[in-house]
Amino acid sequence: MKTAVYPGSFDPITNGHMDIIKRASRIFDKLIVAVVRNPNKVSTFTVNERMEFIRKAVAELPNVEIDYFEGLLVDFMKSRNAQVIIKGLRAISDFEYEFQMALMNRKLDPNIETMFMMTNYKYSYLSSSVVKEIGRLGGCIGELVPDVVLPDIQKRLTGLK
Ligand code: PNS
Repeated sequence: MKTAVYPGSFDPITNGHMDIIKRASRIFDKLIVAVVRNPNKVSTFTVNERMEFIRKAVAELPNVEIDYFEGLLVDFMKSRNAQVIIKGLRAISDFEYEFQMALMNRKLDPNIETMFMMTNYKYSYLSSSVVKEIGRLGGCIGELVPDVVLPDIQKRLTGLK
């Protein structure tokens, strides 16, 4: 059974993430969306909130699981018996950082492969930071985040003004 992990902050999940999740879930037997818990990075949404948004958004994808991890991604991969890391690439600006992480992860564990998926062009401008900025300032984030979690995310962001 081929298991892939799609790791990230997902603070919050966007339609760009959803595009990668849907496409990767068609390729692997199981896809684990893994939310990072990083005590050194300030996040807007708690790990539980981020996982709950993802859970709602992927409810109709039977081979997608949601989990969280702290520490090294390769250790989490081992603990879940997963072989492939999925990463989305939006633009050349993503490449250098992702390239470094992929090589570092391979050095840490040569058995783990990183696979990159190009984002759908519709989402090449989209990021969680942009969603937060627009939402906080009262702009419309419809079409940027999954419909099923739009009211929850919008409400939380408006409250942060
Ligand atoms: O959505 P993000 O913030 O770009 O995700 C980054 C993430 C979580 C994939 C990355 O920071 C990560 O893998 N963190 C775990 C710590 C780790 O394994 N570091 C070594 C990788 S070189």
